[in-house]
Amino acid sequence: MPRPTPPSLARHGKRLAVLALLCFAAGAQAQQPQQLQLCLACHGPQGNSQNPLIPSLAGQPRIFLENQLVLIREGLRDIPPMKGVLDGLKDADLIVLAQYFAAQTPVPLVGAVDAARYERGKTLARSMLCGTCHLPAYQGREQIPRLAGQHERFLRLVMQEYRDQPGPGRDTAMSAALYGLKDEHLDDLAHFLSHVK
Ligand code: HEC
Ligand code: HEC
Repeated sequence: MPRPTPPSLARHGKRLAVLALLCFAAGAQAQQPQQLQLCLACHGPQGNSQNPLIPSLAGQPRIFLENQLVLIREGLRDIPPMKGVLDGLKDADLIVLAQYFAAQTPVPLVGAVDAARYERGKTLARSMLCGTCHLPAYQGREQIPRLAGQHERFLRLVMQEYRDQPGPGRDTAMSAALYGLKDEHLDDLAHFLSHVK
């Protein structure tokens, strides 16, 4: 036997239906593009990369990720292994991907710390004022990436690119920040930043 609808529910029925619809719409909008699985295959589980030459994306500022994804899609930042991966993705898809990775927790790296290199890198980063943009704990903000806990070999490679051959989409302030540094300075900075506590 059908039970009578309680009066309070009947009164709110319409509003509940509208709410359900809104939730459904929000859910559909936040749907991950199917490319996410591809991203994770290279950038690691939840964006914590297991490959020293592929950057972790977990916990990167959302705006940094959005900017880089647009630059990569438009070919202004040239990443040969990512060729074609972002083809056909709309701005809204890139925003959803950026939100996903920004919301993941970065897992600290394991690996031996060389105390002397760590200290040299720390002193250099302080004297070069890297923390004025990247923040004193190097966690990044807005369009500026997190450096803390990033893979050492990736940091080393990307700093050399900024110094020696920044592509058209690269930030000129960042290239200026590394101008004139020697290779061994980049080694120490990368070692310090990837292990920074
Ligand atoms: C075949 C491997 C591969 C796939 C698949 C891939 N990436 Fe990448 N990605 C890379 C490599 C390698 C780099 C770093 C290149 C460099 O600057 O040296 C990179 C760099 C990036 C960067 C810049 C990060 C930084 O710290 O500078 C972002 C953002 C990014 N990828 C997002 C994505 C997303 C989102 C997807 C999925 C849609 C994806 N990638 C798929 C290999 C891959
Ligand atoms: C004026 C602000 C500013 C200063 C100072 C600065 N950076 Fe940056 N840095 C940026 C911005 C913005 C980006 C993102 C660049 C882009 O879009 O090309 C960046 C990117 C980077 C990256 C690439 C990370 C990644 O995941 O792709 C590294 C590594 C880096 N900075 C290291 C340093 C170091 C080391 C110093 C000090 C010697 C420094 N930065 C000083 C603004 C700055």
